[in-house]
Amino acid sequence: MTDAISLLPLPDDIPFSVGSMHFVNPLTAMGLVQRIKDNKSVAAIQTGAASQCGRMIIKLCQMEGIPLINVVRRDEQVKLLKEEYGAEHVLNSSTDTFFDEIKELAKKLRATTCIECVGGPITAKLMDIMPPNSQLAIYGCLSEKEYDGFDPLLLIGRNITLRSFILGEYLQSQGIWIIKTMRKAATLMNDKTLQSTIHETFTLSQIQDQIGKYYKTMTAGKMILCPHDDDPALQSGAEFEPFDIKDCQTE
Ligand SMILES: NC(=O)c1ccc[n+]([C@@H]2O[C@H](COP(=O)([O-])OP(=O)(O)OC[C@H]3O[C@@H](n4cnc5c(N)ncnc54)[C@H](OP(=O)(O)O)[C@@H]3O)[C@@H](O)[C@H]2O)c1
Repeated sequence: MTDAISLLPLPDDIPFSVGSMHFVNPLTAMGLVQRIKDNKSVAAIQTGAASQCGRMIIKLCQMEGIPLINVVRRDEQVKLLKEEYGAEHVLNSSTDTFFDEIKELAKKLRATTCIECVGGPITAKLMDIMPPNSQLAIYGCLSEKEYDGFDPLLLIGRNITLRSFILGEYLQSQGIWIIKTMRKAATLMNDKTLQSTIHETFTLSQIQDQIGKYYKTMTAGKMILCPHDDDPALQSGAEFEPFDIKDCQTE
């Protein structure tokens, strides 16, 4: 059960596989771009930029005319974002020169909001290189590592703030304006501006192999679980080997 205001109509030409991603990432991307605007930042940084959410943020910033410094961890992702998404600034965090390059670019563009979803040591290092009076908005922790290395004196001296973002709180904070936000989201999703790439669909009986595959090829797109009536995994008595999700991760 849910209330009507939480529902989005699915147009006839959008398949269920695409419709299954019609809510969380698109609205998160919109909320994060709104955060950049609320902070009155004339430019921004985002990490995990080759994620589906990151690609939506690229498109929204292009529409809003907000220069965006995109951070990825592999050269293939630099190529993807530049060639297929028209991203102007894409930096690979795995290079030795990364922090020098991003510091200079953030200063030049006056990128005073960083939307950050990687976590671990990169978070504190980004706060160290951001211009004074910046905000780092954490909305994910893809590395599954703890934050460390914060230098309180640097943060105090340059008035750097750390704030979280969570979709539910963003939607609640909209109040009555949520209707306008949902309408805008539906338009952008239906015209494919905010659509995710699907890598593969799979059935319930393939889930163990597919989760491992997803962890190894996240940038390739979403893996959609589509159980069918004749899926053996839905038959009574089906048994699976227990597995630990950590075995599937690449690092
Ligand atoms: N706070 C909220 O309300 C909210 C809502 C929605 C989503 N989120 C967060 O948004 C983030 C993106 O979600 P998504 O569905 O768009 O992701 P996705 O499409 O599954 O893509 C994940 C991306 O992250 C990269 N990545 C994975 N581990 C990484 C690491 N340790 N360091 C750097 N990059 C890494 C992957 O690159 P490789 O191919 O190199 O692995 C891939 O490009 C997630 O953290 C998710 O939890 C938060």
